[in-house]
Formats: sequence, C-alpha cells, structure tokens
Amino acid sequence: MQHWRWVAACGMSAIVTFLPCERPASAEIASPQATTAATEIATIQPSEAVESFEKTFGVHRGLRRNHAKGTCASGEFVGATVAQEWSRSALFQGDRIPVLARFSVGGGNPAVADVDSALPRGMALEFRLPGDTLQHMTMVNIPIFGAATPASFNDALVAARADPETGRPDPKRLNAYMASHPDAHPLAEWSRHHRPTASYYQSIYYGIHAFLFVDVQGISHPVRWRFVPRDGVKELSAAEMASVPHDFLESGLIEKLRKGAVLWDMVVYIGEPGDPIDNPSVAWPESRRHFVAGTLSLSSATPQHGAPCENINFDPLVMSDGIAATNDPILLFRSPAYAVSFGKRISGQ
Ligand code: HEM
Repeated sequence: MQHWRWVAACGMSAIVTFLPCERPASAEIASPQATTAATEIATIQPSEAVESFEKTFGVHRGLRRNHAKGTCASGEFVGATVAQEWSRSALFQGDRIPVLARFSVGGGNPAVADVDSALPRGMALEFRLPGDTLQHMTMVNIPIFGAATPASFNDALVAARADPETGRPDPKRLNAYMASHPDAHPLAEWSRHHRPTASYYQSIYYGIHAFLFVDVQGISHPVRWRFVPRDGVKELSAAEMASVPHDFLESGLIEKLRKGAVLWDMVVYIGEPGDPIDNPSVAWPESRRHFVAGTLSLSSATPQHGAPCENINFDPLVMSDGIAATNDPILLFRSPAYAVSFGKRISGQ
C-alpha cells in the first residue's frame, strides 16, 4: 500500500505538473488492479477540457491554457536520408530546414516556479519545409502519457484542483483518482525513478503517441519518436531542487545558446505487430528497432512575449506528407482542444 500512496502523488505530479512527487501522508487507497476506470466509457468535449484547465489553473488572459509559461527558440533540422526507407516526408531529404521552437512548463499557471512543476516540460517544434508546408512535433519530457483517453485526462485535472479551504489538492480525491484510473499507473511508476532535469536542454523530449510513417510506395509504418540531447540528460539533485532560482529554465537556455548551439538527435522507433498504436499511456519495448532520423540544432532563445513562437498553435496534427496520425484518441483530441485554447488567447481572453 505504501508504494501506491507514493505513486498516486507522483502520477498526479506527472499529469498536472504542480504537485510535488513525494510521499504524501494521506489515507490508504484500494489496489488499482481491483478497479477499472469508470471514465473509459465517458466522453468529453474539447471545450470542456479547456474549461477544466481554466478551473484548475485560473484564466490568464492571452496565454495558453496549458503550458502557459514558455520560451521561444530557433534553429534548424537536418534529416537523415536513411529515414526515407520509412517516410517520404520532405523532413528527411537531407535539407537544412528552419525550425521555430517553444519550450514550456506544463500547466496553465504562467507564474509557477520551474522546480515546482517538475513534470512535464514541453518542446514544441515547427519545421518550415520547402513549398510553404509545415510539420509540427509537440512533445514532453516524459515517455508516456498519464491517461489513455481524454475523459481520463480530464478526471486528472479535476482531481488535482485545489480545495478552496486548504489551497491544496485534496489527497483523498487524488488517491481515489489513482485507484480508479489504472491508465495513470505506468507514468506514475516511471515518475518514481526520475527527478526534474537541470535545464530545458538536458532533457529528452518524447512524441509519446504512435504516428504513421508513410513511405514512397504508400505503405504505413507505426513509429514513435523522441529527441535525445547530444550532451546527455542531467536530473537535479535534491539539494539543487531546493536552491534553483524560480525561473532557472528560461535564463539557463538563453545563456547556453549564447555560447553555442545545442543538438538533439531525433530517434525513431519502429513498431512491431501487437504494439499498441492507440494508447499513449503504454510504452513500447526499448528493444524495438530504432535509428537516428535527423538532428535538431537550436541556436538562439528569447522570452516568449512578442517573439515568433508566441502566436503559433503547435497543433500536433499539422503534419507533412509522409507522416500521418494514428487513431490514438488523445492525439485526435489535442487538435480541437488546442484550437479552443488558441482561439481564446489570440482574442485576448
Ligand atoms: C487530452 C490530452 C491533452 C489536452 C486536453 C491538452 C491540452 C493542451 C492545451 C489546451 C494546450 C494549449 C494550446 C495553445 O493554446 O496553443 C496545450 C499545450 C501543450 N501540450 Fe497538450 N494536451 C493534451 C495532451 C498532450 C500530450 C500527450 C502532449 C505531449 C505529447 C502535450 C504537450 C503539450 C505541449 C508541449 C504544449 C505547449 C505547446 C506550445 O508550446 O505551444 N499535450 N495542451
């Protein structure tokens, strides 16, 4: 039981980002294996999910309802032609492709301390391909998502809402949420073994969903991708977590890029028959065939206000020919949810 109490807090931290991943002194919960997620059959509208963010994090006019705190960056991507065996996308022709990026801290609170919102952090990319076409990749620094369906994710947002009396989420409600949502457990388990990273640039960013690579013959291949920093990953120590400045992520990135570019390899994993392609809460085996499909090089960064990334909607369904969506319900839900949030913030709401 002890184990699951801790997993409950860590799992919520990974989903909604503002809860500390530590052992709570809360009541025991039922074994998650003994229950099923009642919400699996529930449905939810994208506008309701956006309202859930607003109720949980408040409304911050003109800002994203999730990942409100962010930093713009720019650079380029050069695709590896070896990827053409799997995808005919112009990404992999070997050209230098301009990229606009946005790093962010999860959650809808733009004033959150970087260290408090341990997970996830985002890296959103807009590749500006020849012929005025675009490819988006909107990723986070966790390998799987804490929900298999939009309704389950919404339940997490509701469960994490602060109790008006304490100003903190109600531990009983969090535990009840974890007990009834087994799809949140794989990420909670992963979170037990990880601390927040020391910078935006020492993080791996995962596409999380399965996508389809479509080759020149029109054959589709299920893939998952991640961006792995060439200089390696560094997690904060407990002492560093207690002493890092409130906004260390943005200043750290700007300073680092002033000294030189930072590189990430795009690593693509090929799915095998039986690998789930519609459930972002479940990982594929690390042993799957994989290869480097290109390298991202970011060379400058700036605060987001007034910068080019501010008014981009990094909708993950903006894809170039040769890359296509799976029927992952979370992936398909993101696009209309982002449109609602974008419409609000761009009109000053
Ligand atoms: C049902 C699930 C999800 C919902 C409802 C949701 C909702 C949102 C919303 C409303 C925004 C703000 C959009 C805007 O105003 O431009 C956002 C941003 C973001 N989301 Fe999600 N999201 C979901 C799942 C995911 C997943 C699975 C990932 C990672 C693979 C992700 C990564 C991000 C990132 C990185 C941003 C910031 C993008 C930027 O910099 O503009 N989200 N999300």
